[in-house]
Amino acid sequence: MCGIVGYVGRSEAAPILLDGLKRLEYRGYDSAGVAIVNGEGVQTRKCAGRIAALSKLMAQKPPSGSFGISHTRWATHGKVNDTNAHPHFDQSGKLALVHNGVIENYGALKAQLVEQGHTFETETDTEVLAHLIGSIYDKIDNNDSKGRLVNATREALKQVIGTYGIALLHADVPDFIVGARRGSPLVLGVGRDENFLASDVSAIVAHTRDAVYLNDFDLVAVERDKFEISSIDGETGEHQINKVEFTSEDISKGDYAHYMLKEIFEQPDSVRDAMRGRLNTEECTAKLGGLNMTAAELRDVGRVVLTGCGTALHAGGVGEYLIEQLASVPTEVEFASEFRHRNTPMTRDTLVFAISQSGETADTLGALRESRRKGYRTLGICNNVASTIARESDGGVYMHAGPEIGVAATKSFTSQVVILTLIGLLLGRMRNLSTAEGSRLIEALEALPDQIEDTLKLSDHIKSIANKYVDVSGMLFFGRQFNYPIALEGALKMKEITYLYAEGHPSAELKHGIIALVRPDLPSIFVAPDDGVFSKNLNNIEQVKARKGPIIAVTTQSGAKQLKGIANDVIVVPDAPDTLMPILTVIPLQLLAYHLAVGLGRDVDKPRNLAKSVTVE
Ligand code: M6R
Repeated sequence: MCGIVGYVGRSEAAPILLDGLKRLEYRGYDSAGVAIVNGEGVQTRKCAGRIAALSKLMAQKPPSGSFGISHTRWATHGKVNDTNAHPHFDQSGKLALVHNGVIENYGALKAQLVEQGHTFETETDTEVLAHLIGSIYDKIDNNDSKGRLVNATREALKQVIGTYGIALLHADVPDFIVGARRGSPLVLGVGRDENFLASDVSAIVAHTRDAVYLNDFDLVAVERDKFEISSIDGETGEHQINKVEFTSEDISKGDYAHYMLKEIFEQPDSVRDAMRGRLNTEECTAKLGGLNMTAAELRDVGRVVLTGCGTALHAGGVGEYLIEQLASVPTEVEFASEFRHRNTPMTRDTLVFAISQSGETADTLGALRESRRKGYRTLGICNNVASTIARESDGGVYMHAGPEIGVAATKSFTSQVVILTLIGLLLGRMRNLSTAEGSRLIEALEALPDQIEDTLKLSDHIKSIANKYVDVSGMLFFGRQFNYPIALEGALKMKEITYLYAEGHPSAELKHGIIALVRPDLPSIFVAPDDGVFSKNLNNIEQVKARKGPIIAVTTQSGAKQLKGIANDVIVVPDAPDTLMPILTVIPLQLLAYHLAVGLGRDVDKPRNLAKSVTVE
């Protein structure tokens, strides 16, 4: 949700900033801009549109200088246009600021500044912050311009209510950038005679793999050969330089047409990595040391709450079935955005999991903080190891899925489901799950990567099905039990990247209203492996068929036999225990959405209005 890149060094800043923005484009892509300083002042280039548009603009009139800041925007306040694109300036026009987040009290701050004679050019909350910092800077009577800029930023941020990751510079303060964060991620890249600021390490990993992940309320003063981190209140503390786990190659598309397709095809590996070192075949259980819980504490868990947003929430939906089935522990899945504001009665033995690929989703972070504030043990299931959720939780399980760049989440979902299976197995083996059942589950888990490999071979078949449905008005998705959340996830993928209307439902709900929608141009996708509820699904499929609704079925071999002559199109996935079926059935739905989106000419990796990491509420 908005991406920031800053650079101070000896090289030309423009190509470094532009390349960094391209890496961060997944965070927002409605407009972009840079501010670069040289002896002649601040040179700004900004425009509505993708980074490609900014790149064109910069090529026409290249800005030069060896320090600068840049931004790719996902609009919160103010229309998408050239004016509202970042950077924004203070009254003097010398201070430039880029911002990720929302300044909630910008209206009140703006009114005060207007009273003092400030005039504003944009509708953004960010411009108000730039003016505020600039006005304090101008009032500070001190010859140390760097110290003035730091102090002005500090004083202004104390007045701010809201969230921010910011980077700013001033034309009169050479080779100097200030960054700060509260609620929006910011990382410092430490180079040799050059330093970087970015919303995410992927923007700078081509230049350095040494990174300091800033904490909330940190402020950093960045120069070529040094940096200083303090708190907004002025206190200094210890900060660790971490090695980034991946390289710039890991975040390239390789030979794939889209990141989403690459990430779908990475699932045999990402699922393997989610299990690696975590299966205890001897005791037929799972090893999850990161939970930071003793066996006695795990045995005492009386209830589980799984919370997240979007795809992560759907993984939690599968987790609800899994943990209840494997461990008989009452489990609920909760929208993070609702859970954090609701007064959910919970018992002291409740264990809360915040599920998030990015580990930065504002609503999930809010749910985690609320849960911890109330004293519940709250764990994270995250992919991004340096993320705020990972750092603020009491423990957790990393997904180790590698960077996920496509806005539509794919491999993170299957990794999350694997981890929830491991949690179910661990809790189950401490309760009533037998050695034999545990052992069978482990064997089935180990077989998954190869089965996913086989499922991916269906891609061309699924593409031919997708091509038949490019003219449809929408799609309905149905599933029961473990596959009900898969129907939700299939519909989400379809909506996100094809822009077709799509909804997921429990199959049995069909006859309670949804059936009124059934018509020849609205296909129904049934996720119906031959499991304990197959015959029930079959009834629902017949009900759609009787009303001339086209049917696509995702099923197993024996299910396909029974669906012959009933379903219009059948996708056959390998057989697995009911608990693991969702990891296989979701893949055809990811591929169906992908191929349909490509067929419709959509921008698969950057669907309209979306951003990968949603750091605003
Ligand atoms: O990073 P998170 O897992 O917390 O993200 C949660 C959702 O924003 C995310 O899953 C979103 O729904 C995806 N675009 C779905 O494909």
